[in-house]
Amino acid sequence: MKIHCQFLLSTFLLTCANMVHAADPSGSIEQGKQLFMKNSCYTCHGTLGQGGERNAGPKIAPNPFPFVAFEMQLRQPRGVMPRYPVQFVSDQDLADIYSYVASIPAGPNASTIALLNRF
Ligand code: HEC
Repeated sequence: MKIHCQFLLSTFLLTCANMVHAADPSGSIEQGKQLFMKNSCYTCHGTLGQGGERNAGPKIAPNPFPFVAFEMQLRQPRGVMPRYPVQFVSDQDLADIYSYVASIPAGPNASTIALLNRF
């Protein structure tokens, strides 16, 4: 019984380790930027992931959610977003796109922009 529990526990820990690993794919930011444009992500989400006009697509950067969720949304979108199956966007492309989106820095705080603080 004790051995059985140890086996279950180590299987569980291995699964967790794999999930953590999956959350951290290695991709190319530069390549990802090209793919973000080529696959028209920018038309709905904006070139910096800031979100599209008239709710075309939600804001996805900075701080996109974990890779597993990102991947799920592209492979099986939950709403009206077009699907990106592996025939068109490979797993490596997906990792590159994620690297690009994750690399987008936060914009400046509105209180530091003079033009927005004139009145
Ligand atoms: C035609 C418009 C359109 C295009 C093109 C598009 N998206 Fe989306 N995206 C959406 C919409 C709308 C949603 C909201 C959820 C839904 O409807 O599936 C969404 C949701 C998302 C989300 C989840 C964000 C959240 O907070 O819910 C991510 C991540 C995402 N898109 C990434 C991408 C990437 C990367 C590409 C390009 C490979 C892309 N999208 C192309 C419209 C688009």
